[in-house]
Amino acid sequence: MSRFERKILFAIGLSVFLALGGSVFLAQGALREVYSVGVNERFGAELVHGVEARRGQLMALRSSTEQAADAIQWAVEAELAKKRGPARLRRLSEELLERYPFVREIRVTDREGAVIASAKRPRDPREQPTRETTRERVATVGGASVAIAVLVTVPEVYFERLQEAGEVADVYSRLQRQSASVSDVYVWVFGSLVFLVILVAFLIGAIVSRRVTRRVAALAEASRRVGAGDLTVSLPTSATDEITELTQAFNDMVRDLRESRSRIEYLQRIGAWQDFARRLAHEIKNPLTPIQLAAQELDETYDGGDEAYRHKLENARAIIEEEVATLRRLVGEFSAFAKLPRADLSPSDLNEVAHAIEASVPAMLDDLGDDGPAPVEVRVSAATEPIRVRMDPMMLKRGVDNLVRNAIQSVHAANRAGGGRVYVRAYRSGDAGFIEVRDDGPGITEDNWERVFDPYYTTKSEGTGLGLAIVKKVVLEHGGEVRLDRAPEGGARFTLELPLLST
Ligand SMILES: Nc1ncnc2c1ncn2[C@@H]1O[C@H](COP(=O)(O)OP(=O)(O)OP(=O)(O)O)[C@@H](O)[C@H]1O
Ligand SMILES: [Mg+2]
Repeated sequence: MSRFERKILFAIGLSVFLALGGSVFLAQGALREVYSVGVNERFGAELVHGVEARRGQLMALRSSTEQAADAIQWAVEAELAKKRGPARLRRLSEELLERYPFVREIRVTDREGAVIASAKRPRDPREQPTRETTRERVATVGGASVAIAVLVTVPEVYFERLQEAGEVADVYSRLQRQSASVSDVYVWVFGSLVFLVILVAFLIGAIVSRRVTRRVAALAEASRRVGAGDLTVSLPTSATDEITELTQAFNDMVRDLRESRSRIEYLQRIGAWQDFARRLAHEIKNPLTPIQLAAQELDETYDGGDEAYRHKLENARAIIEEEVATLRRLVGEFSAFAKLPRADLSPSDLNEVAHAIEASVPAMLDDLGDDGPAPVEVRVSAATEPIRVRMDPMMLKRGVDNLVRNAIQSVHAANRAGGGRVYVRAYRSGDAGFIEVRDDGPGITEDNWERVFDPYYTTKSEGTGLGLAIVKKVVLEHGGEVRLDRAPEGGARFTLELPLLST
């Protein structure tokens, strides 16, 4: 675990602990408060009183049914004493039923169980549910006795109310008994939840900080490698956050470094080749004149009569002079390359280069040496608006001139009967100005796209291989870039890109 990671975790832990620890403390206090308000003695006593009152009510109802049964017994005894027969007894039963609304049925039976008289109130369908009990009485008159069954009803609702009150009181007393332990349980549950939250916060914090620190560590490692000179480093940028922006900026910086290093390396290499060209030109140029003079002298001072020998001498002189001329031309080009000045930049319009090229196209076509109408068509186009860049017009024109000559030579060599086309175009796009030279010749195989810019790389018998090297040197000195790819017409396409002048 890195120090950064430890610090992040410590900060997360501290803030979570303070916030949640505080809330546990507060919650514990609040819980105790709630219990002390809700669970107190007086409240409990009131509840118990309520239960007692309901029970009392029910007992009163019960005893009034007992009293009614007693009264019915006495009335039956009095009637029996009068011995007026079962019809009067039945009437009495009905009267009694009228008198006591909670009595549903009265039945008088003799010793053998035979019914002597009975009265029954029909059940009202709208009636509240009731609970029924039978009160048994025995009426004794003059040694004989009859059994009286009185069916009394008590509305169910009294029992229910008593039960409800009892349950509430029960729950309450249980609560009261447990109040201390219950609040402890809540605090415990709450405390465990808090602990869980802390744990989860830690885990998430660890995961997030690990991801961040990993990427920061990767950046640090990449910076170390860049510091050690490795400019091939490139970090993946998948997410979208500040670290990704940082990584992106880092990648851009490394790419810029890589580009400017290859630019510097190329220019250094060109510098070394220029030195080499200068020495070579010097070494070759000096002996050329003596060689030529010696050949002339040999030829001119021969005064012997051997015609065949004279003929050989003349031939040798012609060959030597021709080769010396070729060497002189090469020496000229080498020393021109060696003396190539640094580009001297000043604000100009890139379109000027296109116009200058257009003016020199006829001369270039002439240099092909073919007679008759131009076998290659060169189309030059400039942008309608100015393309303001910092440039050295002479040098840049020289570079583009090389590109156009190469293109003309390429399409001409491929198609000597004519018909080849070369396009030159100046344009601007985004914050850059461009000059493009493309042709419909055979093009260049991709394997050689890098090599063609090397000095002395040529596929032509009379070529020096310096043309593209000069182009690249000039463009790099302009802070631009030269790219090579395949033209839509199938040939080669060279694109010079120069940064626009900010206005
Ligand atoms: N438009 C093109 N089409 C096909 N090949 C090309 C084209 N331009 C350049 N090349 C290839 O790149 C090589 C290098 O070109 P460069 O201009 O540097 O030298 P060169 O043309 O051979 O010699 P010089 O410029 O002295 O005549 C050429 O020999 C040729 O093979
Ligand atoms: Mg060339």
